[in-house]
Amino acid sequence: MSLKNKAIMSKAISGFSKLSKSQKIDWIVNTYFSDSENAKQVLKQYWNDDKKIQQLHDEFIENTITNYYLPLGIAPNFLINNKLYTIPMAIEESSVVAAASKAAKFWLDRGGFKTRVISTTKIGQVHFMYHGRLEALQNFFNTIKAKLISDTEVITKNMKKRGGGIIDIELIDKTQALEGYYQLHASFETLDAMGANFINSCLEQFAKTLKNEALTFDNFSAEEKNIEVVMSILSNYVPDCLVRAEVSCKVEDLSENKSVSGHEFANKFVQAVNIAKVEPYRAVTHNKGIMNGIDAVVLATGNDFRAVEAGVHAYAAKNGKYSSLTHAKIENGIFTFWMEIPLALGTVGGLTGLHPLVKLALELLDKPSAKELMQIVAVAGLAQNFAALRSLTTTGIQQGHMKMHLTNILNQFEANEIEKQKLTEHFKTNTVTHSAVVKAINALRIKN
Ligand code: MEV
Repeated sequence: MSLKNKAIMSKAISGFSKLSKSQKIDWIVNTYFSDSENAKQVLKQYWNDDKKIQQLHDEFIENTITNYYLPLGIAPNFLINNKLYTIPMAIEESSVVAAASKAAKFWLDRGGFKTRVISTTKIGQVHFMYHGRLEALQNFFNTIKAKLISDTEVITKNMKKRGGGIIDIELIDKTQALEGYYQLHASFETLDAMGANFINSCLEQFAKTLKNEALTFDNFSAEEKNIEVVMSILSNYVPDCLVRAEVSCKVEDLSENKSVSGHEFANKFVQAVNIAKVEPYRAVTHNKGIMNGIDAVVLATGNDFRAVEAGVHAYAAKNGKYSSLTHAKIENGIFTFWMEIPLALGTVGGLTGLHPLVKLALELLDKPSAKELMQIVAVAGLAQNFAALRSLTTTGIQQGHMKMHLTNILNQFEANEIEKQKLTEHFKTNTVTHSAVVKAINALRIKN
């Protein structure tokens, strides 16, 4: 082995997962940190004193060495379909919770948010290869379709009792896109569960039945009997698990101060949305702002924000071009701002019954069903976009952002309470920039 490879391999380890937690930490701090005692202390300072809570977190994933904290904030005053909510948000980005709260308060005085779940269907697929006659495969699928479903009965029994289960299975010919490629394309209703385990278990059973039944299907040739299942997995693209959130009011009611009239505000706002509709560079940032609100609530309620992100962005490109998720119009003197997005969420199963803070967040939301949570999350996204566009089209985003950023910079420089008070006062009338804050801290410290 060359010297370079030896140096690289000195950081490799086998059997790591079998080490105890303290052995893992020892290996990490000794292998990667010059000040191993300090590194160990940083990791340990985030351990929970309550052994049961710590063990719970240790067991969420493998190789846990510590906990990674994010702030959990709340945004009150969300009026949704005439019910008032305080929304929990887990997010590190300063200004997101403040923006959500501001938008909530703004619409509280103007009738609140109106929401509706459009559909709740989820999708899973068995991807397989078959090189033979299409009619024979179609005939085979029709023959075994009932068995595909009945073979999953052990898995679907409870879900069916509650009113959910498998909705349908279709055979899809994808050979135009890829030679020999077919799918079992299945749709599911998973009620209050996000349903990933349920769907994947059903799909894996479909795959087994498909393969086994093919081996004894009389109309297949020897080659046709040999169906090759490539994989079975749910899809995070859920365009039929859709929720709509909307706000509207008279254009003149949009005005909060005399400097910008309701009409001016509404026109500029609609233009901003229209720009995001036609310009992908802008649309990505526009939608990122929506996801600031969505991810924060999805995370706080123990749902899978990566799944939501992937599905929402795919939906934003559903017409072949990446575009705005929100829409706005002015009609007959009424301003309407709305969004329809796919959200596959759960309020039972997964982390929802395990993580004490997730349980608390769901209780704060009055233990919502998955459908109710879809509506709350969509509102958080719409509110966030409203707040962002409102700032962008009036004062600009930096005013609010830098005010929040000021606290982060002050903390970075370990400013004490008196320094914080003085500098917050100073920056009420001065522009916040990183260098201006550093200069002001230094000036204050020299003076004292
Ligand atoms: C920042 O996290 C989000 C914004 O950039 C969104 C937007 O531009 O609409 C402010």
